[in-house]
Amino acid sequence: MEIIIQPTAEAATNVAARLIANLLRAKPDAVLGLATGSTPQLLYRELIALKLDWRKVRTFNLDEYIGLPPEHAHSYHTFMWENLFRHVNIAKQNIHIPDGLAKDIPQFCAKYERQIRAAGGIDLQVLGIGTDGHIGFNEPTSSLASRTRIKTLTAQTRKDNARFFGSEAKVPHHVITMGIGTIMEARQNLLLAFGAGKAHAIAQAVEGPVTALNPASILQMHPVAKACLDAGAASLLLRSDYYRWVYDNKPDWQQF
Ligand code: F6R
Repeated sequence: MEIIIQPTAEAATNVAARLIANLLRAKPDAVLGLATGSTPQLLYRELIALKLDWRKVRTFNLDEYIGLPPEHAHSYHTFMWENLFRHVNIAKQNIHIPDGLAKDIPQFCAKYERQIRAAGGIDLQVLGIGTDGHIGFNEPTSSLASRTRIKTLTAQTRKDNARFFGSEAKVPHHVITMGIGTIMEARQNLLLAFGAGKAHAIAQAVEGPVTALNPASILQMHPVAKACLDAGAASLLLRSDYYRWVYDNKPDWQQF
């Protein structure tokens, strides 16, 4: 995993935005995997400001709460439209977000997997990380080979996400999420984490053993995974001096 540590969330976001912008310029019909939550909000703002051409871009979101209609204020559909889609020239038919109201969820999940395959697979997957190490909503002990399916949120995640809903009681228990196996098939994974609250999860993911107890640790097995961190999220990394040196001295010819 390439560890990119920047002083602030803004600077770390800037690195991530440049990577995505380069991809969209090189491949206008790229397939992006997208995340929601606090972490990518800055990223989406920066991508909007870059005025890229999204006409042919295809997107697949990681997850959605079960039971929330798309128009619900706290659905990830609403999040994506508010934070990105309505500000860029993306075609509606190219947007894919799990349907929290799907009647037959296993069938819906199998179709989502088929749609990703039919699009040629995900070129670049944006990821945040939960304080418990989840990616997507693959909570600790999720199968490292899992596919898109239902997951039950941990008490920690529901507590963390209560800030969006106003109270913990309103946070749904169940979600549809891309699986870890699905995420691992993306050609590139780009993990973003900001703030000291993420430092423990990041230290475990980057320098701990690969374990289903910290699902993000599977990224150690991915050939092209980058983590863009601010100083807070990187604060418990043992080898941060090394990561900083590597990034600051990266030769021009080194693509990954
Ligand atoms: C959201 C998602 C989650 C979040 C994670 C961090 O689509 O897949 O894994 O990335 O819960 O959330 P924030 O960024 O709100 O701290």
